[in-house]
Formats: sequence, structure tokens, C-alpha cells
Amino acid sequence: MTQEAMRARVRELGNEITRDYRDKDLMVIGILKGAFTFFADLTRAIRLPLQIDFLMVKSQKAKRGQSAKVKVLSDLTEDIKGRHVLIVEDIVDSGRTVEQLMKRLKKRKPSSLEVCALLSKTVRRQIPVKVQYVGFEISDHYVVGYGMDYQQKYRNLPYVGVLDSELREPS
Ligand code: IMP
Ligand code: MG
Repeated sequence: MTQEAMRARVRELGNEITRDYRDKDLMVIGILKGAFTFFADLTRAIRLPLQIDFLMVKSQKAKRGQSAKVKVLSDLTEDIKGRHVLIVEDIVDSGRTVEQLMKRLKKRKPSSLEVCALLSKTVRRQIPVKVQYVGFEISDHYVVGYGMDYQQKYRNLPYVGVLDSELREPS
């Protein structure tokens, strides 16, 4: 996807979210580090008096006999009880991160809890999770840029690229 296509899609998502949360007390939660760029663009495309907060997580690979775990490195600073919460993720892959985050945040009794992800690799889903807002569906490729990394690099690329022997556009 080109930078122009991304900008257009982020604007559309912003409009959709603006419509859906018009009369609601919206709290947008960015999942760091990957969502930082998308979060900044998306929140500026939502025309509502929202509040923001962040969660920093690290996905740990599955060890033998155990499934992958999501470790919270830095928790929210705000109370989400009774709030309408929208989680902003860079990409949903197996679905584990979103599933575990939802479970964790639901315990704090928000009025509603939805997910907005820039990208979704539905073909790789292992746990069915509901992602209310998806920017783009992509095929099974590892992507970097626009916040997303490979070994903590490439996050500052202004576009999303597939990491092959060289960077190319995702399909
Ligand atoms: P899941 O828990 O398998 O859904 O993985 C979600 C997390 O893995 C995302 O929040 C990303 O941080 C990371 N991830 C998955 N696929 C990619 C990718 O193609 N590029 C960069 N990060 C990815
Ligand atoms: Mg992530």
C-alpha cells in the first residue's frame, strides 16, 4: 500500500470511529511500541474529545509445552471502568496479543471494548478475535515500517514494506 492509500484509509477509519463514538466517552489505548505511528495519525483523524493512554507489551514466543504469552511492560495510567475503550494495534497476526489484552482489560469493567488494527493477517489467525476496525487485510508476509519493527529496527520508515531480501510493497 502506498503512503497515499494509507493516509486515505486512516482518514476513513477516523471518520468511522467518529461516527460510532459520537456521544460516547472515548478512551483510545495505543499498544506500544508498534502502534505509535498509526496511533498518532488515527487519533488526529478522530474528531471527538477523546482521551488517550498507552500499554507497552512484549509478545513472548511460545516455549515448549506452553503457549505464547503477552507480557505487560508498562500499564495504563488511567482508570477505564465505565469508559468506552478502543485498543489501537499495529497488526493482528495469530490473535494471541489481542485476545490476552482483551481478557486483561475486560476485568477492569469498561463500558465497551473494541479493537482497531492497521493491518490484519487473517490467514494466520489461531485464535478468533473480533477486530472491529481493520485498515488493510494483508497476506502472510512479515512487514516493517510505520511503527512496526524487525529486531527493533525499521519503525521509523514512513511506509509499510515487506521484509524480504529487500523491502517491497505488501500484497
Ligand atoms: P499476534 O499476537 O500473533 O496476533 O501478534 C501480534 C504482534 O506481533 C503484533 O502486535 C506485532 O507486534 C507483531 N507482529 C506480527 N506480525 C508482524 C509483522 O509482520 N511485522 C511486525 N510485527 C508483527
Ligand atoms: Mg504490536
